[in-house]
Amino acid sequence: MTNKQFRRHRRLRSSTTMRAMVRENHIRTEDLIYPLFIMEGENIKREVPSMPGIYQLSLDLISGEIQELEKLGISSVILFGVPNEKDEVGTGAYHEEGIVQQATRKIKKEFPNLLVIADTCLCEYTSHGHCGVIKNHDVDNDESLSLLAETAVSQAKAGADIIAPSNMMDGFVTVIRKALDEAGFTHIPIMSYAVKYASAFYGPFRDAADSTPEFGDRKTYQMDPANRREAFREAASDMAEGADFLIIKPALSYLDIIREIREQHPVPIVAYNVSGEYSMVKAAALNGWIDEKALVLEKLVSMKRAGADLIITYHAKDVATWLKES
Ligand code: PBG
Repeated sequence: MTNKQFRRHRRLRSSTTMRAMVRENHIRTEDLIYPLFIMEGENIKREVPSMPGIYQLSLDLISGEIQELEKLGISSVILFGVPNEKDEVGTGAYHEEGIVQQATRKIKKEFPNLLVIADTCLCEYTSHGHCGVIKNHDVDNDESLSLLAETAVSQAKAGADIIAPSNMMDGFVTVIRKALDEAGFTHIPIMSYAVKYASAFYGPFRDAADSTPEFGDRKTYQMDPANRREAFREAASDMAEGADFLIIKPALSYLDIIREIREQHPVPIVAYNVSGEYSMVKAAALNGWIDEKALVLEKLVSMKRAGADLIITYHAKDVATWLKES
């Protein structure tokens, strides 16, 4: 056959150098955001059983961890608190001496260049494990909002660089923006978990953050995995309310949503590569069933290809190590 009859796509795949030249998407260490689970107490480094390689760390051990991150070139972390005490209204989330507030002050003092993103939610701090206050057996939207705003302001006061509200109450961007502005934090951006599905992929996180709801589920506030158009309504309202970044979560099963939101909104798009996505890969790798490095790089580049600018991922340290090696 002559090459008039068909097109030779393989020409551009002929060597490593050729493939590198025509590669359309890349993972950079600067794209990665690493989650940290911080506990009260001293000298605690406890591996999360369902997340090999991920630890709950006490406050006194985070400096060592962050030195390691800085060496790898990872420039941002998202903080989750694992408090000793919980109550009905999640006081630990907005207390000046809350675990995330203490951690933020310490990190910003010792590592001023590291970007600290504060996850703004109540579920790790409430005795019932829901993301807001309970009224008539459901999470009350408007009463939860004022506590969320209080949480955001206390995190900003502690030095957080970015506020990331994740509880899926309607109007959270509006009330948080207003509260931050009134408290003098007009310069602090909001990274909104705009599109957050009620997902079974969060299972291991709830072990790590000790935030499994005591009754019911999160389906009255998190989204139905079957829905697509609903994601566009969520993203549009968060944009109108002033979000600076949009998070889509989980990532891997929702690449179609990432792509569409990328097309619709010109802000940085963040994919949250969640705990269950991490645990599945780790479990298969530990069994020797897959090539962990190749698989992780493939899944992260698929998130970039879908349109994500940034990726929150438990694989961040491994990926940064591999990128350094190559
Ligand atoms: C809620 C929150 C959750 C995650 C991040 N923030 C869990 C939930 O809604 O139950 C999940 C992250 C993951 O699975 O990695 N504060």
